[in-house]
Amino acid sequence: MSSSPSTTPTHRHPHLSAAMMLERALSSRRGTAHSDEEDDGVTGAADDESKTKKPQNVFFFATKRASNYLTRIGSLSYWLCALAFLLVLFLLSSLLFSSRGFVCISSSYSPVSRAGFFGFDGLESDFGALGVPWCRTKLGKTVEWTSKDLLKGLEEFVPIYEIRPIKNNMYGMGFDHSFGLWFMARWLKPDLMIESGAFKGHSTWVLRQAMPDTPIISITPRHPGKYLKKGAAYVDGNCTYYAGKDFVDFGSIDWSKVMKKHGISDLSRVLIFFDDHQNELKRIKQALKAGFRHLIFEDNYDTGTGDHYSLRQICDQSYIRGGGHSCFKDSDEARIRSRRKKFWEKAVDIEELCGAGEEWWGVRGYMRDNFNHSNKAISYGEHFQNSRFVESILDVYWELPPVAGPSLTHQTRYDPARATSPIVEDGRYGLFQRLGLARLDNTVFNGYTQMVYLQISEGDVRVA
Ligand SMILES: C[S@@+](CC[C@H](N)C(=O)[O-])C[C@H]1O[C@@H](n2cnc3c(N)ncnc32)[C@H](O)[C@@H]1O
Repeated sequence: MSSSPSTTPTHRHPHLSAAMMLERALSSRRGTAHSDEEDDGVTGAADDESKTKKPQNVFFFATKRASNYLTRIGSLSYWLCALAFLLVLFLLSSLLFSSRGFVCISSSYSPVSRAGFFGFDGLESDFGALGVPWCRTKLGKTVEWTSKDLLKGLEEFVPIYEIRPIKNNMYGMGFDHSFGLWFMARWLKPDLMIESGAFKGHSTWVLRQAMPDTPIISITPRHPGKYLKKGAAYVDGNCTYYAGKDFVDFGSIDWSKVMKKHGISDLSRVLIFFDDHQNELKRIKQALKAGFRHLIFEDNYDTGTGDHYSLRQICDQSYIRGGGHSCFKDSDEARIRSRRKKFWEKAVDIEELCGAGEEWWGVRGYMRDNFNHSNKAISYGEHFQNSRFVESILDVYWELPPVAGPSLTHQTRYDPARATSPIVEDGRYGLFQRLGLARLDNTVFNGYTQMVYLQISEGDVRVA
């Protein structure tokens, strides 16, 4: 890749690295317009006071003016005025509470009711209690891009996303992962992009937006062109399709032959994107055997969820902060999980997390594969060895944060306690709006499943 991740070992928790990479600037709630402008990294960004604060100012000045006025008039006018003031106040508050920009929209299953229940600080302290599994890497290296780069990227990507050919991409990628794929492909500038799992071709289109002239290889059982009969789909002119009768699984392709055909001699200049719902351990081993080093997995499912064994599941171990689980029904974890399940569709409680013999790893002790069409029970020992193997070959593990907090996106699926801090934090509606994110339909934010970028260390590639 023309721009490879930093070679500076940090020896930090990669999530801390990621969180620090987000420079705490994102996670701290700032009080001044000035600091917002400096830290946004968005050209022309002005202040971003939380909209929740504005009604307080209006109320304060209105009250002050009214009381000054009332002291100057007689008692009848006083009561008339007080009545009028209350009426205005009532009208004003109904207006404010029904407008989208405020976090006070009430609904029985909205992020706001969650915020009301936990308070946003409650979300953060629960985050600490549950933690987020992550994969240790050999030297603790992290990516080059920063929170500012992500914000700038978002500003640029929103108008691109708005003109996507496939507007309804149910079962495919939503906004968060489209952005992540576009951002990483553009940053890494590969000479060849390979995708496994194309569906109607939305991810192919995203790759094309990132790299207009770079060849793509797309592997998917059904050719995206087939979907054109029923509606929108995308077929790329500079893409070799292993699809339909030409479909061959990623693991069965003779990659040295294909690379020769594409004139690729340096496999570290190839980016692979997996959205094929296959066991990620299997895919890593296949990529390693072929000699590829830059991999993105779309669905890095959390432990206890999903249709294939994922990086997150593999690296969920008790020696990782936030990893390893207790199946004890009276544990703190059980209590927190059952509370959070009421609020987030993807949250799992201890009953769902644990199998009959208290197997919590993978999905109830199973290593799922191929859209869960196949699965295999694995022992804790095997699960542990899998994580040791992954850790032994990784240089970089980086999870894409959600683009924005749930009070902004109104997403209702993933539990923010099981994700890294969003790029645009809750309460920063001004920034959310300036980036153009407020123009998008809420449904495009409901598909976040922890996309992850991996860099395999150079010494571990088997074939050149
Ligand atoms: C979730 S969809 C992909 C969505 C797509 N990336 C997007 O952005 O819209 C998963 C795709 O993987 C395909 N698939 C199933 N088995 C596969 C395999 N072994 N290799 C590659 N793709 C596979 C499915 O047919 C389906 O099109």
